[in-house]
Amino acid sequence: MAGRAGRQTRSGRQRVTDQNAPERAYTDFSQSLSYGDYLRLDTLKAAHHPITGAHDEHLFITVHHVSEVWLELIVRELRAAMTLLEGGITDAPLKMLTRVVRAQEQLTNAWEVLKTMTPADYLQFRHAFGQASGFQSASYRTVEFLLGNRRAVLLRPHEHRPDLHGPLEADLNAPSIYDLALKLLAERGLPVPDEILNRDLTQRPELNETVLESWLTVYRDPQTYWDLYELAEKLLDVEDNFRRWRFNHLTTVERTIGFKAGSGGTSGAGYLRGVLSVVLFPELWEVRTRL
Ligand code: HEM
Repeated sequence: MAGRAGRQTRSGRQRVTDQNAPERAYTDFSQSLSYGDYLRLDTLKAAHHPITGAHDEHLFITVHHVSEVWLELIVRELRAAMTLLEGGITDAPLKMLTRVVRAQEQLTNAWEVLKTMTPADYLQFRHAFGQASGFQSASYRTVEFLLGNRRAVLLRPHEHRPDLHGPLEADLNAPSIYDLALKLLAERGLPVPDEILNRDLTQRPELNETVLESWLTVYRDPQTYWDLYELAEKLLDVEDNFRRWRFNHLTTVERTIGFKAGSGGTSGAGYLRGVLSVVLFPELWEVRTRL
């Protein structure tokens, strides 16, 4: 056949390669969306605005942009999973949480690219962004709030932007994904104290012995509570990956700026070391010790 070249594979089957594919591809986009139109690539690229001529500022912006896009995906998946969990559905949320876990892996891998930037490279453009810091990332804070790591003070950097502050404040006052998991435990007849079900949602959860006993029941008999067991393990995967991201961030920060203060006004590496000790789902970790 004209334009096609065959190649005999080891299995004897012929794999056809189409040498003329580019000639047959669609080329007229005067009436329909092209790749770049659909993805709004002009807008995407326009957001990339280095302020200095420093070579590594491009990398710095790229890694932040890519991270923000993954964070938005994570927010979307978490919200969808939470809506289903609230309705008592546990199977579909597992798939969404698996996607969250995979996206977190991408976020964590991004450090490998950024780590090719040396402290001297960074200092070439550090002056350009003043007090801007990932500390002010609304997407990151949303992920944290949805997972239950909350403090009202973290809303403050968003006060000048009601469009960001409003949704964050709503998330601060709504059940986290872990609160929804505990509600499911209670609905299955496993004891969860009222003070936990009606707790102050603006605070991080603390370990509760009765809740721990309920998770122990699940972990001692996974066959009976399979969906709750799977949900718990998936949440643990999410927290595990979150810790990896935090640890890689801290290491990257230490190798780039050492123990200088952060651009966002915190102590820098000291602050980030502190957040490493945050536990999102305390009973799910403690259950391992007690089993
Ligand atoms: C060399 C590159 C980086 C340095 C030196 C750096 C430094 C820091 C420092 C010192 C802080 C503490 C807050 C403050 O600024 O005072 C911080 C917070 C933060 N950074 Fe970075 N960062 C870097 C890259 C990134 C990237 C690529 C992301 C991706 C989104 C990111 C996201 C965040 C977030 C979300 C926080 C808040 C963490 C929390 O409050 O728990 N950072 N960063």
